[in-house]
Amino acid sequence: MHGTGEGSGGTVRWHVTMSLDGFVAGTDHDMSWMSLNWLPRQEGWPEPAERVLGSLGAILGGRGWYEASRSLNGVEGIYGGRYDGPVLVLTHHPEPAPYDPRISFVTGGIEPAVAAAQAAAHGRDVVLFGADIAAQALAADLVDEIVVHTAPVLLGAGVRLTVHERVELEPLHLGHTGPLADLHYRVRTAASRQ
Ligand SMILES: NC(=O)c1ccc[n+]([C@@H]2O[C@H](COP(=O)([O-])OP(=O)(O)OC[C@H]3O[C@@H](n4cnc5c(N)ncnc54)[C@H](OP(=O)(O)O)[C@@H]3O)[C@@H](O)[C@H]2O)c1
Repeated sequence: MHGTGEGSGGTVRWHVTMSLDGFVAGTDHDMSWMSLNWLPRQEGWPEPAERVLGSLGAILGGRGWYEASRSLNGVEGIYGGRYDGPVLVLTHHPEPAPYDPRISFVTGGIEPAVAAAQAAAHGRDVVLFGADIAAQALAADLVDEIVVHTAPVLLGAGVRLTVHERVELEPLHLGHTGPLADLHYRVRTAASRQ
């Protein structure tokens, strides 16, 4: 665990489904390309996704996720309705009240936002939603693991995963569920590379 400091909370994971050409959302934050029908019923959810959900204590999303989530069944739409915990949204422009009481806004930058999510998780793990905030968290050395599902689609345009520097990864699980490639990595910190 690196997160916001030793002993400060559980693992911080960026969990994302990505098109083969590296987009996490389509043009105008379109998410219609994401389909639960990709998951064959008999196989269930990807094993890394089940593990993420099993230890999940809080979600930290960016304002981009928040805006897109309004049209995606809101909090009920998260993990197909299997998550009911706190959701924190990082923004410079908090609204007087979020559209759902399970959501709270956080301001002040990525470090306090991850710390607030860890506090809300009460020792359980934190998941990051969104590309921009995940890139910032990676740059600030706040991400322990990345779980990515590569979807069988090329989008050509949209919100791309753009990181700010080289990040080395250690594979923990490389598999697939139906047509999804399931990739689970540990982020190698400067200390662990020595
Ligand atoms: N494929 C997937 O698995 C998956 C999962 C989750 C979300 N998504 C999608 O991914 C897209 C994410 O879009 P994105 O990467 O552009 O946005 P994002 O990371 O969700 O949010 C970016 C926004 O968060 C706020 N923000 C970012 N850094 C901040 C900081 N340091 N301090 C305060 N506020 C900060 C800013 O909003 P303000 O302007 O309000 O300050 C910024 O515009 C959405 O379409 C979402 O639906 C995909």
